[in-house]
Amino acid sequence: MYNFTYHNPTKIVFGKGEISRLAKLLPLDKNIMLTFGGGSVKKNGVYEQVIKALSKHKFIEFWGIEPNPTIQTLRKAIAIGKENKIDYLLAVGGGSTIDGTKLIASGICYDGDAWDIVLKGSCDKFIPLAAVLTLPATGSEMNAGAVISNTDTKEKFPFHSQYPQFSILDPETTYSLPPYQISCGLVDTFVHIIEQYLTTAGQSRNMDRWAEGILQTIIEIAPLIQSNPKDYDLMADFMLSATLALNDMVAMGVSQDWTTHMIGHELTAINGITHGESLAIVLPATMSVLREQKKDKLLQYAKRVLNITSGSDDNIVTEAINQTRAFFKSLNLATTLTEAKFTDADIDYVAAKFNKRGVKLGEVGNVTGDVVKQILLACK
Ligand code: NZQ
Ligand code: ZN
Repeated sequence: MYNFTYHNPTKIVFGKGEISRLAKLLPLDKNIMLTFGGGSVKKNGVYEQVIKALSKHKFIEFWGIEPNPTIQTLRKAIAIGKENKIDYLLAVGGGSTIDGTKLIASGICYDGDAWDIVLKGSCDKFIPLAAVLTLPATGSEMNAGAVISNTDTKEKFPFHSQYPQFSILDPETTYSLPPYQISCGLVDTFVHIIEQYLTTAGQSRNMDRWAEGILQTIIEIAPLIQSNPKDYDLMADFMLSATLALNDMVAMGVSQDWTTHMIGHELTAINGITHGESLAIVLPATMSVLREQKKDKLLQYAKRVLNITSGSDDNIVTEAINQTRAFFKSLNLATTLTEAKFTDADIDYVAAKFNKRGVKLGEVGNVTGDVVKQILLACK
């Protein structure tokens, strides 16, 4: 196990009706800007609950943070935030709204163009933010990451920001989610765990078993959620799994490998494919191309998570990869580039981009643009 420091300051307020607690959780002496996506919260009663709780607060509203939030939209929010001397942000929505709000929080404290912050990869000045989550998937409600897109340059990059001060997670807010977003959220959660788990074997029994527990939970609840999307306990398990999957908890002292995410972001930058679906396409191929390097952990995953116990090691690994792909397919997501309308030219374009940047992904930095190309070819 490597040395590590663990400090996650986000307070999680979880459960039915807890949005009303905003009244006490949000400071009364701040100029607050509420940030929203495209309007789902007006249809499912979340907006009403938020506004009711804020009867004593000073706030303005910013609407229109889109899925895969763009710098183009966020620049407008930053300008409005500066103009109104905003000093506290409350994001109400999915990961995109929360991520976008993380950039607004930094952009308000920055004199230049906020895209600089994304390109730099981190920032240390920001106004505080909190969140009301409506879509279990990204973990943004309890982590310091954010991913921002630029439609002019067709780029999508993560940057390191701040943790929300608190996040409210009411599973009832998820009842209005379309089945496709639920599927993408389940896959995103699953792949977050995998990218912190499918590395060198034997680094931490604790991390392994926490990770395996969340993977098994997702596999168990996914089909049940498909037929009962308004079951409180199922959605509560889903919501908490998504948060635990990317709040640093399963990453203490172990290697990580974000290859699948980094390739997925490039696919989204091309045609806007939803994040979770991009991962459903790439992960099985990443497993296949890196199967020798990751053999020990793939075997552990096969045996402990998928319960595949018989056959040669090679067959067990192949079966594990096939079952992973079949799980994503069972959620009605594309699992090949062809199904998602990507072309050979797109594969060359993404590989060339990684090569040009000289990026070396993977737990030991061996996933170059050429290896990315092999992975993408295996997704066809
Ligand atoms: O915009 P509205 O109208 O709110 O609709 C949204 C959006 O159309 C809708 N939605 C959200 N909650 C809903 C709902 N519809 C009905 N009922 C509800 N309760 O769902 C659509 C997708 O929302 P979005 O926020 O884009 O989804 P998600 O939470 O999956 O966020 C995806 C973004 O997060 C980034 C992704 O790259 C992508 O840009 N990620 C952020 C991470 C992080 N901060 O740590 C890590 C992840 O790996 C990921 O990269
Ligand atoms: Zn993700």
